[in-house]
Amino acid sequence: NAKEAYQCWLQYKKIEDGRQYDEYASICLNLAVVGDSVILNSALQELIQAVTSMFDKEPLITNYADPDSSIILGTYQDINLTDYGVDASIMDRLNEEGYLLQTVNNGKRDCLLLVGKSDKGTLYATHHLLRLIQTGEAINDLTIVESPRNQIRMLNQWDNMDGSVERGYSGNSIFFDNNQITTDLERIKDYARLLSSVGINAISINNVNVWQVETNLITSKLLPEVANIADTFRRYGIKTFLSINFASPIELGDLTTADPLDQDVKKWWKDKVKEIYAHIPDFGGFVVKADSEHRPGPFSYDRDHADGSNMLAEALQPFDGIVVWRCFVYNCMQDWRDRSTDRARAAYDHFKPLDGKFHDNVILQVKNGPMDFQVREPISPMIGAMENTNQILEFQIAQEYLGQQKDLAFLIPMWKEVLDFDTYAKGEGSTVTAIVDGSLYDYKFSGIAAVSNIGNDINWTGNTLAQANLYGYGRLIWNPNLTAEEIAGEWVLATFGSDSTVLENITSMLLDSREIYENYTTPLGIGWMVNPNHHYGPNVDGYEYSRWGTYHFADRNGIGVDRTIETGTGYAGQYFSPNKKVYNSLEECPDELLLFFHHVPYTHKLKSGETVIQHYYNTHFKGVEQVENLIVKWTMLEDKIDEFRFNNVLDRLKMQLANAKEWRDQVNTYFYRKSGIADEKNRTIY
Ligand code: GCU
Repeated sequence: NAKEAYQCWLQYKKIEDGRQYDEYASICLNLAVVGDSVILNSALQELIQAVTSMFDKEPLITNYADPDSSIILGTYQDINLTDYGVDASIMDRLNEEGYLLQTVNNGKRDCLLLVGKSDKGTLYATHHLLRLIQTGEAINDLTIVESPRNQIRMLNQWDNMDGSVERGYSGNSIFFDNNQITTDLERIKDYARLLSSVGINAISINNVNVWQVETNLITSKLLPEVANIADTFRRYGIKTFLSINFASPIELGDLTTADPLDQDVKKWWKDKVKEIYAHIPDFGGFVVKADSEHRPGPFSYDRDHADGSNMLAEALQPFDGIVVWRCFVYNCMQDWRDRSTDRARAAYDHFKPLDGKFHDNVILQVKNGPMDFQVREPISPMIGAMENTNQILEFQIAQEYLGQQKDLAFLIPMWKEVLDFDTYAKGEGSTVTAIVDGSLYDYKFSGIAAVSNIGNDINWTGNTLAQANLYGYGRLIWNPNLTAEEIAGEWVLATFGSDSTVLENITSMLLDSREIYENYTTPLGIGWMVNPNHHYGPNVDGYEYSRWGTYHFADRNGIGVDRTIETGTGYAGQYFSPNKKVYNSLEECPDELLLFFHHVPYTHKLKSGETVIQHYYNTHFKGVEQVENLIVKWTMLEDKIDEFRFNNVLDRLKMQLANAKEWRDQVNTYFYRKSGIADEKNRTIY
C-alpha cells in the first residue's frame, strides 16, 4: 500500500481522540465559504477532504456566515472585517496573494477567518491552517498576516512528449505519454494540490529542449489539450507556460527563416500568440532555451538575445504574457588549448552588455551557479549584474548532479546559501533575495524557478525523502527567512507524523545530507568528475578530455581552475567588490570554493591546516562513514514508518552507500596515483 507515499505532505492523518482532537475539531467542523470562484472552491474542497480525514467526520458547510460558523473563508472583498472588529487596513500590508488568519468572536462563539487578498490568498490561507494542524500547532488564537516574498514562484518540467523526463529520476512524465498529452487530469490535479499547498503559482509543462513533436504544442491540434491542463492548474492558482522552439516558424512548415527581425517572422509569432490565448486566456508565456547546447536561436541570423526575446515579448505583450529567456548560453565545443574560454564566464559575457535592451515583459532566467547545478558553486555573477533587466533565478530540484534521487541530498541549505549571499551589487546588503524579489532594482517581473523532480512514480519523487526538496522549494521561495531546520521539521511532521525519533532522525539526516554528498564526491568547489551523459557515479576524467568544456586541470602537481584576473580566465573579475577581491585572492578565497577559483599544488595548505590532498582523502573516507550512519538512523525507524516508504528509502540508502564507496575509491586512487602522495593515516587506497 503506497497511499502515504502518494499523498506526500498532504497526509491529513486521523488525529487521535483526546484533548488535541477536541480543540481542533471545535474549530474545524463548521465551515462557511462566502463568495464564489474556482480557486475558492479548491480551497473549500481541500478543507473538506482534510477535515473529513483528520476528524473522521464530515464538516457542516454553508455558503454564508452564521453564528455557528467556526471557520469562515473568502476574500476580503466578501468578508467584511470590520463586522468582526478587525481593522481592515491590515489588508493593505498584503500583496495580491497575501492572506490573514484571524481568530474573532462573532458574539456567539470564537471563529477563525481565513481571508485572502484574492481567492488565491484564501487558498494559501487554507493551506497555512492545515499546515498548523499537521505540525501540531495551536489554532485557537491566531493572528497571522502573510504575503509571498517572491512574485513568480515557478516550476519547470523537463518533460518530453514521448513520456521521458530529461534528468528525471522518478519514472516517466505525468503530462505526456507516447507522444500524446495525458488524459489523466486527476494526477495533474493532485500535483496542482501539492504545488499550491506550498505556494507555487506558475509552471512550464515541457522540456526546455523542445524537440520535433513538442514544437507542435503551440498548434491548434494540441492547444485544446494543453488548455485542459491549464484549466486544472488554474483552479489552484497556477499559470501554465510552454517552452517553445525558437525555430518554430520553420519547423512548423510556414516560413524559411526564424530571424527575429524579419517582418514575416514577427507576424507569425503575433498570430501564433493570438491563437494560444484563444485557447488559454490567462496563458503565462514562453520559456526559451536559445543558442544553447545546439538549440536554435537568434545567433543563426547574427542577431543577439535582446532581438530574439523582444520579438517574442512584443507578441505576448497585448495579452500580458511574459518571456522567460534562459541565460544558459555557453560554448559547449571548447578547445582545451584555449585557456581563455571559460564556461563560467559565458552567461555574463553574453548578456551583461545587453542590459537595458530588453522589453519589460522579458525575464532573464539565470542558474544559481555559473556552471551547472554542481554540489557547490559560487553564486552566478549574473545575479545582480543587470540593473535594467528583469531576472528570475533558476534552481534544480531534480538532483542531476546530486545523486539523482538515489542518494540523499536535501537542497534547502544550499539554496539558502544562494539567497543569503551578498552580491554587493548596490553596496552591502544587496543579497540575492533582494535581487530576485525585485526590490533592489525595482524589477517589474522577478522570482524563482526550478527544475522539478517529479514523475509518475507512485511517490512522485523516486526517493520518498526527495519530496522534501519539492516541499522545501515552495516554502523557501515563499518566505526566504524560514530556516532549513524549520522547513525540514515541518515537512517531517506533515509527512511522517510526530514521533520524536522519527522527527529527530529524519531532520538530521536531511540537514547533513548535502555536506555528506559533497564529502564523498567533489569537495573544495571543483565539481563534475561524473560519468558523462547520465551524470551518476564517479569518473574523474569523464569530461576532462571531452569538448564540453568542464575541467579540473588535475596533473601530477596540482588541481583546480585558475579563474583569477591576473593569470587565469578573469572570471573572478565579474563579481562586485569586495567579492571580486576575495575570490581572486588565494589567501582570502573560502576553502569550499578554492579549486573553483585557483589552481594549487596538492600540498597547498587549507585554512584548516590540512593539505588539499589530505583533505580529499579525509572527506572521502568520512563521507562513506556518514552514509553508513544515515542507514543506522533510518533503520531505527523501521516500526515507526509504513513498510512501503521505509523500504523505498532503505533501498536507496543502500544504493547510496555503494555509490559513495565507488566515489571514495576512484577519487582517492586517482589522486594518489597522480600525485604520488600517500594518505597520512595509511588507509586503504587502491
Ligand atoms: C544541463 C543538463 C541538460 C539540460 C541543460 C539545461 O546541461 O544536463 O539536460 O538541458 O542543463 O539547463 O538546458
